[in-house]
Amino acid sequence: MCGIVGYLGNRDGLDVVLSGLRRLEYRGYDSAGIAMPVDGSIEWRKKAGKIANLAAAIEQDPLPGSGVAIGHTRWATHGAPTDANSHPHVAGRVAIVHNGIIENHDALRAELDGAEFSSETDSEVAAHLLGRELDGGAGLVDAMRAVSTKLEGAFTLVAIDAQDPQRIVAARRNSPLVVGKGDGEYFVASDVAAFIEYTRDAVELGQDQIVEITPDGVSVTSFDGGPAQTKDFHVDWDLEAAQKQGFDWYMRKEIFEQPKAVADTLLGRLNERGELVLDELRISPETLRRINKIVIVAAGTSFYAGLVAKYAIEHWTRIPCEVELASEFRYRDPIVDPMTLVVTISQSGETADTLMAIRHAREQHAKVVAICNTNGATIPRESDAVIYTHAGPEIGVASTKGFTTQLIACYLLGLYLAQVRGMKYGDEVAGLLRELERMPEAMQGVLDNQQPILDLAAELVDETSVLFLGRHVGYPVALEGALKLKELAYIHAEGFAAGELKHGPIALVSQDLPMFIVVPPRGRDQLRDKVISNIAEVRARGARTIVLAEAGDDDARAQASTFIELPRVSTLLQPLLAIVPLQLFACELATVKGHDVDQPRNLAKSVTVE
Ligand code: AGP
Repeated sequence: MCGIVGYLGNRDGLDVVLSGLRRLEYRGYDSAGIAMPVDGSIEWRKKAGKIANLAAAIEQDPLPGSGVAIGHTRWATHGAPTDANSHPHVAGRVAIVHNGIIENHDALRAELDGAEFSSETDSEVAAHLLGRELDGGAGLVDAMRAVSTKLEGAFTLVAIDAQDPQRIVAARRNSPLVVGKGDGEYFVASDVAAFIEYTRDAVELGQDQIVEITPDGVSVTSFDGGPAQTKDFHVDWDLEAAQKQGFDWYMRKEIFEQPKAVADTLLGRLNERGELVLDELRISPETLRRINKIVIVAAGTSFYAGLVAKYAIEHWTRIPCEVELASEFRYRDPIVDPMTLVVTISQSGETADTLMAIRHAREQHAKVVAICNTNGATIPRESDAVIYTHAGPEIGVASTKGFTTQLIACYLLGLYLAQVRGMKYGDEVAGLLRELERMPEAMQGVLDNQQPILDLAAELVDETSVLFLGRHVGYPVALEGALKLKELAYIHAEGFAAGELKHGPIALVSQDLPMFIVVPPRGRDQLRDKVISNIAEVRARGARTIVLAEAGDDDARAQASTFIELPRVSTLLQPLLAIVPLQLFACELATVKGHDVDQPRNLAKSVTVE
């Protein structure tokens, strides 16, 4: 997730774009840059780090004035956050900024023989493709049209041509872009926050559309040149609401971003032969075939993602998989050697407990793979390999999209290991990937049905204790649901393995005690039937049962004081869906309680002390 701004008008383009980028910094802050057409060539500056670094660089080496400019603030996906990998990318007379993931960038890069690449990004490929079209005599609009039809994946591209300085052209597919229309001035941006200080008249764009901006106005066509459906609207949000895209909290926005974050994390994982590729993994298949144990090390929510991963990885690969709290790992004198694969999971990539654990593991000569959402962070830098989630910046302290995209990365790792070790045929891996690719839509279905959860939170606002039950992969979901409630509502919340209830915790059950229970899909009848029995046990003792189960499970519904319906999915993937109502519940209960959901008391987004 990156921030893009383009401007054409009579103001100072540098000022307008820089201020717009500052308002989009929540979308990414690894690096920033700006480009403008000046006297037949492209003038540009770009710097790793926050926008302040770029502004300082421009202060020292000023850009000329221009009424046309494009800018970018980056959340790195392909390529570390360096000056060279920053946007804009320039290829001769053309400069582009890009938000998204170009899945077929490797194949396209191979087509561009003779092009001199200065970065390791997927985005630069688009710049060279555009440059080739322009050098071939195409205008910027036709060039963008031609290039857009070559790209696969998710992209918003905004480009300028030094030979055609009064024009900005953009293209969008599966990635946000909105147009701002002022009085003789025009804007394109990732979201309205970038330009509402200048105009509140905006145009919502559709899929596969080309936007052309000139001093005469804005024209939008489809990729094939035909007419395009757009929608004019007036922005009535204030700036802060605009940065949260109308949500009250970043956390709530991030809960609703999960379908897209999961889809983005799945992008570009298959090669042209349909085989799973984890190109950031950089550990040879031979080494992976020698692994005889996996140890997952993480903290907090990321640890619960690891607990889910254990079930999937062991089932698919038959490699023993332990899951350890990072803060405990190195103090228990773990049995780790060169045949061990240590997998660290960290959204921030800076958690000290996890960092210390992997340093210990590497001293024992274990291979370390990091699953991380922050490109270039310390933990991936100190690991042998990395699988990046593509959730975009997670601003809310309570992790949500970080968790679900970690699950995706863990599933991908498990399938990759199964594929490399011959435990699963290509068609089996492909089948599971296809099911994963259906998850964004299934998650959206859960989000669309949020009202019962919001009503429940209002009813339970005065509760002081809530229990969560789950079995198999539902157990880590219960633990994560309890953590969300602790973090946000500051009340007692505890997750249990449903089978463990009778060994003590059932003594906690009292009249009307709220209990969330995650019921496995009916594909695993024995597992499910036992949980149904567990629900009956607690209902018999007066508990208020909030049952999460798949659509059509009438036995589960019959045991529910409140029934939360989940789309049907296979057992191992159900956590992707079951966690969403629990995230929503915690967010809503904290909101109703008047708490600061984005910055809960006593917590930090990244715990960089042991
Ligand atoms: C999750 O909601 C918490 N903010 C916390 O448990 C977090 O998951 C934990 O600190 C690990 O952070 P990391 O994923 O950045 O390593």
